[in-house]
Amino acid sequence: MKKQSITSIQKAKGVQKLTMITAYDALFARLFDGEVDFILVGDSLNMSFGGKPDTLSVTMDQMIYHTQAVCNGAQNTFVICDMPFGTYSDMNSAFLNAKRVYQETNADAVKIEGGIEKAHIIKHLTDNSIAVVGHIGLMPQNYRSEGGYKVKGKDEENIQQLINDAQSIEHAGAFLLVVEGVKSEAAKAISEVVSIPVIGIGAGVGTDGQVLVWSDMFGFFEEFKPKFVKQYLDGANMIKKSLKQYKNDVVNKDFPSDKEEY
Ligand code: KIV
Repeated sequence: MKKQSITSIQKAKGVQKLTMITAYDALFARLFDGEVDFILVGDSLNMSFGGKPDTLSVTMDQMIYHTQAVCNGAQNTFVICDMPFGTYSDMNSAFLNAKRVYQETNADAVKIEGGIEKAHIIKHLTDNSIAVVGHIGLMPQNYRSEGGYKVKGKDEENIQQLINDAQSIEHAGAFLLVVEGVKSEAAKAISEVVSIPVIGIGAGVGTDGQVLVWSDMFGFFEEFKPKFVKQYLDGANMIKKSLKQYKNDVVNKDFPSDKEEY
């Protein structure tokens, strides 16, 4: 699969569904490279890799480190780096932090959570040659301020708010929009009113593409399984079974055998 460009991403709208997966290291990025349209270095790494209860405490340095690793592994895929909580609260710090992503990694774009209230930040970044992906609906960085993960788009007023958010992000210059944890009809309505592709997660089938967190979809993250996740592999159990086998082999002196010795 050829690496996407901003132009080819725009052209995909209404023609072909787009696929995105998260990755946090070179090992998995290499496995995903060339197989999907985008790899997202999500701040979800703070939970699945960092073992933290939410995404809020990940730092810019940590995102840079993981994005460097992902870019090393995935040289043929469009890579997006999540901007951590608190690193884009004003135009100046947003630009300085996004500039770090461009100067210290090979990421192609940054992703920012927020609606109309973040449009001026997105415009400032795009005016300064940084490619931006928006993220609206359920925004994990609002986990504490909203008291949990709340599905959005449940009434007409909120659907209209989401549509306004999406349109203001598009007008600010974002080339792609992630819509998370939104009722399917609302996500479909958003996808229909904007001309940039909309990537859904927990947002039904009416969007222009899908994103999943790799450790959820391959069954490695056991703490909880959101309703919207389709599990494609029983990863955790496969690992546990193999680890038991390894232990038995060592204890029973079946490993190493003469095949594994010098
Ligand atoms: O951090 C992340 O993995 C994300 C996805 C859930 C879209 O933002």
